[in-house]
Amino acid sequence: MNRFGERFTINTFGESHGKAIGCLLDGVPAGLAIDMEFIQSELDRRKPGQNEFATARKESDTVEILSGTFEGLSTGTPIMMVIYNSDQKSGDYANIKDIFRPGHADFTYFHKYGLRDYRGGGRSSARETAARVAGGAVAKLMLNSIGINIQSGISAIHGIEAQTLDFDYPKHSPIYALDKNVEEAQKSAILTAKNSHDSVGGVATLSISGLPIGLGEGLYYKLDAVLAEAMMGINAVKAVEIGEGIASTHLQGSQNNDEITPNGFKTNHAGGILGGMSNGDDVTLRVHFKPTPSIFIEQESTNTTNESVSISLKGRHDPCVAIRGSVVCEAMAALVIADMVLLNMGRKMSGITNYYT
Ligand SMILES: Cc1cc2nc3c(=O)[nH]c(=O)nc-3n(C[C@H](O)[C@H](O)[C@H](O)COP(=O)(O)O)c2cc1C
Repeated sequence: MNRFGERFTINTFGESHGKAIGCLLDGVPAGLAIDMEFIQSELDRRKPGQNEFATARKESDTVEILSGTFEGLSTGTPIMMVIYNSDQKSGDYANIKDIFRPGHADFTYFHKYGLRDYRGGGRSSARETAARVAGGAVAKLMLNSIGINIQSGISAIHGIEAQTLDFDYPKHSPIYALDKNVEEAQKSAILTAKNSHDSVGGVATLSISGLPIGLGEGLYYKLDAVLAEAMMGINAVKAVEIGEGIASTHLQGSQNNDEITPNGFKTNHAGGILGGMSNGDDVTLRVHFKPTPSIFIEQESTNTTNESVSISLKGRHDPCVAIRGSVVCEAMAALVIADMVLLNMGRKMSGITNYYT
C-alpha cells in the first residue's frame, strides 16, 4: 500500500538510510511543462539541516527525473523521480537496534513484519515525505496552470496560536510562521523544548484557492474525506480540521451557515466544501502534528524480547515536525486536488462530447 490516488497517482519507495528514495507518478497528462527549478525549490523548502529549528541531518535532496518527460514536457507516461540519500549515520541507531522508541513506529512495524530496519526508522521515517513533495510539485505545476494555488504556514506551536494568517509571511520565517506577532514566542517554545532535550507539537494551516465548483465525488471519494485521509497519512499528524472544524460544534446553525448571495458566499465556515465537493470558495485546513517522538530524555520501553529497558536516544531530530510537515501537507493537498481535477472531467455528457466529437 504505497500508492495514493485514483487517476493522478503516486507510488513512493525507499528508506531513510537506504540508497535512495523517490516516487513514480502516473496519470500526469502529456504536455505539462516540467519546471525542474520549481520542483527543486519545493524540495528545498522541506529539506533538513537548514536552521536550528530542524534536524541537523544534511541532505541536498537533489531530485532527478528518470522517465516520463521529453524536451521539458511530460509525455503522458509514468514519471519516475529519485533523490539519493547522502548523510545517513546509521551508527546513531546501533544502541536502539532491538529497542522500541516510544511514540515512533518501531513497535508496530516489528510486530507486523517480524523484522525491523532500525537505521533511522527505515520506511516509517519522514525521510519518505521528500518523495511526496517531489510528486506534489508536479501536481502543483498542473494546478498552477489552471489557476489553482496552494499555500501553507504554521498557525500554532505548542498552543501559541496565530491571531492573523498572512500567507506571504512564511517565506520570510525560519519556522514558516503565519503571524509575525507570535513568531518569536513560537520560536522560543521550540528552542526551550530543544534545549531541554524535548520536543513540541504544532498546527499547519493550508489555504487552497482558485478551485472550480464541484471537485470531489459525491459519496465515497468526497473532497473533505480524501483530504483528511491524505493529511492523516502524513507522519505525526493526529487530527485534521476543515473550515471551522471543531469550533463549528460550539456554534449554532445560524452562525455556522455560510449565507449565499449572487456574488458568492458571505462567510467561509464550511472551508470551501459542501456535500463533499468544492463550492468555489477557498478550501481551508488545519493539520495538527504531535510533538516529535525522538527526544533525548531517558524513557521507559521494551525490546524485541519484551524485556523492560530504559532508552536514551542519540541522532538528529526535528524539535517540531509541524514546520517541515507543512510543506508535506501542501504536496499531499496538491496530489488530492490534481486527482479530483482529472476525475471530474467525465462528470457531464457535454465534457465527453466536447472532447470526442
Ligand atoms: C517532516 C517530518 C519530519 C519528522 N522528523 C522526525 C524526527 O526527526 N524524529 C522523529 O522521531 N520523528 C520525526 N517525524 C515523525 C515520525 O516520522 C512519526 O512520528 C513516526 O513515523 C510515527 O508515526 P505516527 O506519529 O504518525 O504514529 C517527522 C515527521 C515529519 C512529517
